This record gives sequence, C-alpha cells and structure tokens, in this order.
Amino acid sequence: MRVRFIDPEGHEHLVEGEAGESAMRCATRALIPGVIGECGGAMACATCHCYAMPPAGASLPEPSSQERDMIDGCIDIQPTSRLTCQVVLGPELEGITFIVPASQV
Ligand code: FES
Repeated sequence: MRVRFIDPEGHEHLVEGEAGESAMRCATRALIPGVIGECGGAMACATCHCYAMPPAGASLPEPSSQERDMIDGCIDIQPTSRLTCQVVLGPELEGITFIVPASQV
C-alpha cells in the first residue's frame, strides 16, 4: 500500500507501506525528514507527530487518551495531529497522506 509523506520542506515521498506496520516505522524505514520515532513507538517521545490528512486520515480510529496527552505537548498541534507510531497501516488507508510539521525540521 502506498503512503505519502510530505516533509517539512514540502517535498513529497511515496513509500510502500506494509499492512500491520505503524506509519512511524514506514516513515523511519524510508528516512522521512522530521520523523524520528525516538522511543520506538512507546508513546513517550512524540517525535513521530504528523498530520493525518483526509480523506483516509479522517477514517482513523480516535486517539487513545495517552496519545491525546502526548499530542497536547507537541508544538504546532492541528485537528489532524496524530502520533504515527499509533497508526497501524492497512488496506483501508491506501494512499493516506501524512504531513510532517514544519517544527520538526
Ligand atoms: S515514536 Fe515515540 S511517541 Fe511515537
């Protein structure tokens, strides 16, 4: 499945994601600028913060309270803010676009 990342400089990256992996793993595997995933997906760093854009991003399950708390500590929060380590890729997210916040250069 294709996953699109737009880095903080506006460059588009199309990455082949694997069903069952997190969007953070997909991004770090492809060395997307600004997505670090420092804690490995333990919801302890927020260095995987991205904007999950509609339409596919709007179909994601609501964030857990722990994810929401971590997002609240991020800079440049948007209604579409998500921790990509908590987004599990699957066929329903084909073509999903994540924008990496400009603050994560
Ligand atoms: S990788 Fe640390 S919170 Fe997502």
